[in-house]
Amino acid sequence: MPQPLVRVTRRLHFNAAHRLYRPDWTDERNAEVFGPCANPHWHGHNYEIEVTVEGTINPETGYVMDLGDLKDRVNESVIDQVDHRNLNVEVPWLEGLNPTTENFVVAIWTRLEPLLPSGVRLARLVLWETPRNYVEYEGELAPSSS
Ligand code: NI
Repeated sequence: MPQPLVRVTRRLHFNAAHRLYRPDWTDERNAEVFGPCANPHWHGHNYEIEVTVEGTINPETGYVMDLGDLKDRVNESVIDQVDHRNLNVEVPWLEGLNPTTENFVVAIWTRLEPLLPSGVRLARLVLWETPRNYVEYEGELAPSSS
């Protein structure tokens, strides 16, 4: 008998500083492309992340996954390492990455995905950089163009 596949989501908050820039570009070019996010003296964002996992409902608990357990895993593997940090210089798993929200969400996916318990899969991440701007990622890869 096929079981319902249900998605559950936990929303978490953190603050972090960053600078968007390419070292091989002039300050003028970086400012033109990245705007205020290219400020050489850093700046911060209040990030929100929504972590969605998908699975069947455990008949014993009625849960897909305990959201407290999900929160703990996301805190340990991601939030504790980026909260109140500088994303350009303090986070080893972001090293060498221009910390746009796009690059950041994919790095979080790569880090989090293997740390989930069996029986659920990471279905979606939504990363808010401001109350108006967010990116989402569901683990998909673009078809190869070659
Ligand atoms: Ni910024």
